[in-house]
Amino acid sequence: MLYPQYFIDDLKTRADLVRIVERHVPLKKKGANWMACCPFHEEKTPSFSVHPGKGFYKCFGCGKGGNVYTFLMEIEGLSFPEAVKEVAEQAGIPLPEPVDDETYNKAKVKREKEKEIADQVIELNNYALELWEDHLSDDNPYSKAARDYLAKRELDKETITKFRIGFAPDTWDTVLNLLKAKGAGDDLIKLSGLVSVNEEKNRVYDRFRGRIIFPVLDLNSNPVAFGARTLGPGEPKYLNSPETPAYIKGQHLYGLFQSKEEIRKKKFAILVEGYMDLLALYQFGIRNVAASLGTAFTVEQSKLLGRFARNVVVNYDGDSAGVKAAQRAIETLLAKDFDIKVLVLPDGADPDDFIRSNSADRYNLLRGNATPYLQFVLEQSVKERNLASPKQKAEAIEEVLPLLASIRNPIQKRESFDQAMNFLRFDDSTVKRDLWKTVKLGGQFEPETIRRHVARVTQAKMTVAEHQLLELLLHDAELRKELLPQIEITDYEMLATAPVFESLIELEESGIEINGKNLIAQTNDDAVAADIVPLLMMGEPMREPDEAIDEVLVEAENCLVTLRSMAISRRILEISQELAIAEQNNDSDALARLVDEQIQLAKMKRELQAKISEHPS
Ligand code: UTP
Ligand code: MN
Repeated sequence: MLYPQYFIDDLKTRADLVRIVERHVPLKKKGANWMACCPFHEEKTPSFSVHPGKGFYKCFGCGKGGNVYTFLMEIEGLSFPEAVKEVAEQAGIPLPEPVDDETYNKAKVKREKEKEIADQVIELNNYALELWEDHLSDDNPYSKAARDYLAKRELDKETITKFRIGFAPDTWDTVLNLLKAKGAGDDLIKLSGLVSVNEEKNRVYDRFRGRIIFPVLDLNSNPVAFGARTLGPGEPKYLNSPETPAYIKGQHLYGLFQSKEEIRKKKFAILVEGYMDLLALYQFGIRNVAASLGTAFTVEQSKLLGRFARNVVVNYDGDSAGVKAAQRAIETLLAKDFDIKVLVLPDGADPDDFIRSNSADRYNLLRGNATPYLQFVLEQSVKERNLASPKQKAEAIEEVLPLLASIRNPIQKRESFDQAMNFLRFDDSTVKRDLWKTVKLGGQFEPETIRRHVARVTQAKMTVAEHQLLELLLHDAELRKELLPQIEITDYEMLATAPVFESLIELEESGIEINGKNLIAQTNDDAVAADIVPLLMMGEPMREPDEAIDEVLVEAENCLVTLRSMAISRRILEISQELAIAEQNNDSDALARLVDEQIQLAKMKRELQAKISEHPS
């Protein structure tokens, strides 16, 4: 049985050596230490001393000495694990799960075996890579297209050599034959991922053919995997190695072997997505770069990067996929307490495109002005969203909360939370307090929990008019036929019940039965709808089936008119804000347009009010 070393070390410093020794021999205090007649040999005057501060004992007479464990082993004849157990009990510290020798040894043997196979795979990778590097060299007519391609992409010789870029011949068995000639067995060759296997036809052939090879090196410069780009259109653009004994996805960063010293020196890393992005920056002299390679940035990758710097500039593609990926990378990096900025290059350019059509200076200038991650995340969250809509506001905060929750430093977390609340215009202190509770907990909740929570606390109050109107509509098919065609999207889009109106209209149009279950399903289980619909369904129909519809119709129309004039008032308010901005910017076109809209709206509002007074309910 073995206990983990950390536990043994920790326990030693916490053990009460004096009390344990005292069980066998009376001690007398002398300064910081204690003295006794030695329990290990016969003596009349004390020469045995115990030093609790330093955790050891020593006899000047017989020379015996040691720590709390050796004391118990000597005097009580215990084995080492027994002594550990004894000390832990005495100190009241629970024992960790012991590792018995057999399991420990088995695991060790297994680890060693795996390491051996990984090394063998790396050896094969090296053979293949040397072949591919050779194949790309100048005097080979078969690789002219590859050299032309790299020239077109402006990768120079130095970069190609430094990053060991190669070209795989467009053949089925060149690599396979090489590996066989090197004496590799069939099983190992299959494990290496350098070949593809067609089980049906029992055929094995080179995985990478006619593609540019970008090796992924580990920190010891071993090629652990490859990315292989087509020269032409062809799919996939990059073919990557599968997982092998030498390669687990998400545990490496492309280019880190070449860039790690520069990252350490500069104290920050630029994180990009693609092979070519990294290579372009590097070639242009920006050498503190690492690439995450298109997949989601992992915790392992953040740990790896953290060995060299605590600051990161995330420079992913400017398209929506790139922004999403950046958000996830930020979350992962935050959890590891990185200082993060975000650089989004203009016009959706990737770093490779940008630096070639501009310059390293221009890139560095933008990089120097990179956006602090919180600002980036907040600005993204309101893009294409209208904060006046409760639903869209909830979506925005939903996007931001996980990031806030990932922040490690409690003070920074609170400040960022407040900043987010201001930015997203959450003023209600109850709502804020509730959201803060969620955020403070950190990463201990599911996205689904956040969604429900946000929906609950941000839920705008249902107005009387929308409540009444929906209740009437849900219970009266004839009324729906009359009224639904009159309802416009602007009447309800800013309401808390917008999803319910929307799904009601959709169900009616497609002739699906109106009931609670269908309504909620049609909103894709929107949390607000799930709360409200059962409430609405509990109401009673307002008229008997054979009763005339007139009265109910008037009531419903009044509700609709109220909602419409509320929407108009809201828009008028918005316009006055937009007018102020247009005035500031001296934007006369916008001014004219807004004033015009304002006049139209005022007129509509007057007409509506006249309508309400026509038939007061
Ligand atoms: P991009 O599609 O942005 O490609 O993918 P890129 O890096 O700009 O490539 P070039 O400039 O056209 O050569 C970003 C990264 O995603 C991974 C690669 O790591 C790529 O560098 N990827 C992309 C794949 O693994 N497979 C693919 O088919 C495409
Ligand atoms: Mn590119």
